[in-house]
Amino acid sequence: MQHLKIAVFVSGGGTNLQALIDHIEEGEMPARIECVLSSKEDAYGLERARNHNIEGIFIGKKNYPECNERTCKILGILENYKIDLIVLAGYMGILDKAIIEEYRHRIINIHPSLIPSFCGKGFYGEKVHEGVLAYGAKITGATVHFVDEGTDTGPIILQKSVSVEDDDTVESLAKRVLKVEHELLPKAVKLFSEGRLKVEGRCVKEEL
Ligand code: GRF
Repeated sequence: MQHLKIAVFVSGGGTNLQALIDHIEEGEMPARIECVLSSKEDAYGLERARNHNIEGIFIGKKNYPECNERTCKILGILENYKIDLIVLAGYMGILDKAIIEEYRHRIINIHPSLIPSFCGKGFYGEKVHEGVLAYGAKITGATVHFVDEGTDTGPIILQKSVSVEDDDTVESLAKRVLKVEHELLPKAVKLFSEGRLKVEGRCVKEEL
């Protein structure tokens, strides 16, 4: 089976990137991370990439101030590497609709809540867990979904729940959810790499 060529987009620590690198290096799926793109120059995710001989590329407002310029640069890199799947792993940049259209149902994102709860504009990173605790929700979790033109609105691929404990803080809850993210993202990429995800409207069916 042809190896799936993956580009991972990060903006921060890159623990989800690391989880994906580890699962691939353990031979769990026919895939290879060809490059890591970051919207932040100092993202530790770039360091993680370099530690595994993966090209890390900074593309942000600082070095490509114009949106069109950034989009063209990103599309050029994706084309050069013949990328099959884009994985957003804590990516805080905005993907232009040209990229969404070109890679329809080939862009996967991980979000630290059970979409459609606590997602969309303003719900990212710790703000998600702050919202969960403030609302008094008893269950949260993680979601992997395809990316469309909206924010966290694409068809859901996988979800897994995490109980909210009475003594939870943002930090303790984020830690438990992140652990589930590290399990869910590689599982979704593996299913994609095996051609086992079928999108039917808003639904994603897992084929045997
Ligand atoms: C994760 O919580 C992810 O769900 C969210 O951003 C965070 C990224 O963490 N989109 P990391 O950079 O993968 O450690």
